[in-house]
Amino acid sequence: MCGIVAYTGKRNAAPILIDGLRALEYRGYDSAGIFLSGNLEAKLPSKLVKAVGPVNNLASKITDAYSGTAGISHTRWATHGVPSKANAHPHSDESGKVWIVHNGIIENYKELKQALQTKGYKFASETDSEVVAHLIVDKLKRLKIEQAINQTLKELRGTYGLAIMYDKEPEKIFAARMGSPLVIGLGDGENFIASDPTPILRHTKNVIYMNDGEMAIITPDSHTIFNLDNVQVNREPDQIEWSVEEVQKGGYDHFMMKEMMEAPEVVKNTLRGRLLVEDGMAKLGGLESVKDRLRQIKRIIIVGCGTAYYSGLVGEYMLEEYAGIPVEVEVGSEFRYRKPVIDEGTAILAISQSGETADTLEAIREGKRKGALTIGIVNTVGSTIARDTDAGVYNHAGPEIGVASTKAFISQLTALALFTLYMGRQRQMSLVTGKKIAEELLDLPEKIKKILDSGNLANIKKIAEKYNKFEDFLYLGRKYNYAIAFEGALKLKEISYVHAEGCGAGEMKHGPIAMIDENFPTVAVALRDSVYEKMISNIQEIKARRGPVLAIGTEGDEELAKLADDVFYVPKTLEMLSPILSVIPLQFFAYYFAVLRGLNVDKPRNLAKSVTVE
Ligand code: M6R
Repeated sequence: MCGIVAYTGKRNAAPILIDGLRALEYRGYDSAGIFLSGNLEAKLPSKLVKAVGPVNNLASKITDAYSGTAGISHTRWATHGVPSKANAHPHSDESGKVWIVHNGIIENYKELKQALQTKGYKFASETDSEVVAHLIVDKLKRLKIEQAINQTLKELRGTYGLAIMYDKEPEKIFAARMGSPLVIGLGDGENFIASDPTPILRHTKNVIYMNDGEMAIITPDSHTIFNLDNVQVNREPDQIEWSVEEVQKGGYDHFMMKEMMEAPEVVKNTLRGRLLVEDGMAKLGGLESVKDRLRQIKRIIIVGCGTAYYSGLVGEYMLEEYAGIPVEVEVGSEFRYRKPVIDEGTAILAISQSGETADTLEAIREGKRKGALTIGIVNTVGSTIARDTDAGVYNHAGPEIGVASTKAFISQLTALALFTLYMGRQRQMSLVTGKKIAEELLDLPEKIKKILDSGNLANIKKIAEKYNKFEDFLYLGRKYNYAIAFEGALKLKEISYVHAEGCGAGEMKHGPIAMIDENFPTVAVALRDSVYEKMISNIQEIKARRGPVLAIGTEGDEELAKLADDVFYVPKTLEMLSPILSVIPLQFFAYYFAVLRGLNVDKPRNLAKSVTVE
């Protein structure tokens, strides 16, 4: 959702904050703002600048005159109130004593606002966030700033990541976290607060992840963390593993392209040190602490959202077929609001790239409350889901910046295959099968490289050009590639804004086929696997209704080329691993399709990378 960066030190804060906001722009990009504290001794007035649109619009308004050494900044993904200058953060009260930037949702803002209005406070925005500034100012009449913030936090319901400045102490930045991530960056004579480490790592790799219910105060030379009972918390810093290069485009036009091209390395990194090929096993150090409990579990519920949910669907098929464990998969937002039957024999497996998705996180917390073992497949080290689960497997896919999830999906499927090996070999899976899966996993990076060959990519681009005139698409797949139909459709719709519908191929004739005509193409994943014949029949049915068909097929399948209008081939692998290959052309198809329409694939409209609100 929104991105927060705050700095206090000796350097000019404005360029550091603007650079930081650029790095966080994937979290939200409808408006941005910055507040720089003044300095009475240096006769430097405080400055506030806001702009609607991307961070560049804000940057163009910042001149050399903006030379404060401490400030807070924000890039917004609107929840309450349209993207406008008035609704952009930072917010203050009329007195300008206190400035805040906020990520999250204050659920009881209406009642708080009403009470404040009755006291005479005037509101300048439609946001839920503004109440926080007024509440603090109101309490400053009788309390010191630390207590005023502490008391304010106790009145808030909902989620927040907050960075706050107070005019009487211009070098201090206050931060508070409940449900929306915040990290403290520790530099030399300077300190930072940010929503995640990406804007910090060009300055320092020493970070402390804040926990829910914590408040922090940073100055250029100190940092202090308290819980809401005002008890000081001491925590050793973590080291960020990611490099600065990893969060840059590296010569590609878009992060999405760079991240898709990283797929072979991503698979290698997810597998690294985890395959015992001769034993047909996987070694997952992150599960060591719960290995006995995992042996006992009777059932797994996988939770995730969007792309992570679709990887879970593939995981369900893998785990049931090869480990013989009953699996259910559910979107986090549904799981948390019904009454799932959970007991000690249940493990909840959360899949999340960011590790911050609110619905997935709450699903885990609900599961924990009911006694389930919770495990995670998470990409972002130190993220909330990674820390809140009992144990887990890190993806090691590196930072994913493009809003459309691509390499994380590939890595999630790879991690799920490893987890299947791990669970399966404790149960019914034979050595021969285990070895076969391990060997096929090791072959995947080379097979992906073949797909990424420049001739192949040029071919997908050509196909995307041909289909660019259409506004509706049906995506079909079966069995292991059932989820790929949904994931392929999600990729196209989220970056191209065209109507794309995923459908299990068998379900097509129960309704969706009614849409098919010469203007409604179908993208069909029809690999040479156990459901190939069925897929061919479905493609025939579409052709009989004059629907254009773009098929994803297995290398060497000449028959498919006779039936479909266009075919893109991927190498053969084990059926359970085939989604790792078949999804790649669909990601590139969506990418080229959107780029050809002149759209910004890294920052699609209305979306944000990390969905930390419900
Ligand atoms: O960070 P997460 O993996 O938990 O995110 C889940 C979804 O929000 C995410 O996959 C989303 O659907 C992407 N935009 C898909 O490309």
